[in-house]
Amino acid sequence: MVPKVIFVLGGPGAGKGTQCQNIVKKYGFIHLSAGDLLREERRNPNSEYGELIENYIREGLIVPVDITCSLLERAMSLSGKDSFIIDGFPRNQDNFDGWKRRMAHKVNLLFVLFFDCPLEICTERCLRRGAEGSGRADDNIESLQKRFNIYLQETKPIIDYYNTLNLVERIDASNGPNEVFEEIQNIFKAHNLQSQ
Ligand code: C5P
Ligand code: MG
Repeated sequence: MVPKVIFVLGGPGAGKGTQCQNIVKKYGFIHLSAGDLLREERRNPNSEYGELIENYIREGLIVPVDITCSLLERAMSLSGKDSFIIDGFPRNQDNFDGWKRRMAHKVNLLFVLFFDCPLEICTERCLRRGAEGSGRADDNIESLQKRFNIYLQETKPIIDYYNTLNLVERIDASNGPNEVFEEIQNIFKAHNLQSQ
């Protein structure tokens, strides 16, 4: 069975993580967040990449793809499953090229779920998440500005490219979580993806 993959992209604070949990519950996909996998790797005291990852995340920079792609590939095979939502990836051209080289031919990319959200709303959500104790080193205004710049300069062009291939499903992520999930369910229905 060729694994099915949905990429989830959008600015920081667009609600990707929240909705991925809903998708997992309803459709039984395995959720792999590139950011979460990198944070987990950073916490592993035996990792040779811990310090590098720490520095990249604090600066809002995108970690070299060989590290991220290896973490994704390992998590996919360890899961023993065949349906994945991959959140926060591919985040730039390097991510895109690395995935194309190492993984694209092994999976079936169904579509890219694009969380379209104004930056002011994203900022407000991330700062709230930080104030509520997310414990994330990058939920502060300085890191956020860098993350937004990287999003606009590096991630948005990847979304635009997938759009030229007709692979993008855009949702209005400025709405509340229930409305956003309604939109997502309609998209899944249109792709004949059944709830479990
Ligand atoms: O997606 P999330 O907001 O959790 O990502 C947090 C940080 O993890 C990013 O700002 C970036 O430094 C790092 N990251 C990365 N490559 C990815 C996804 C996340 O370097 N594909
Ligand atoms: Mg996330």
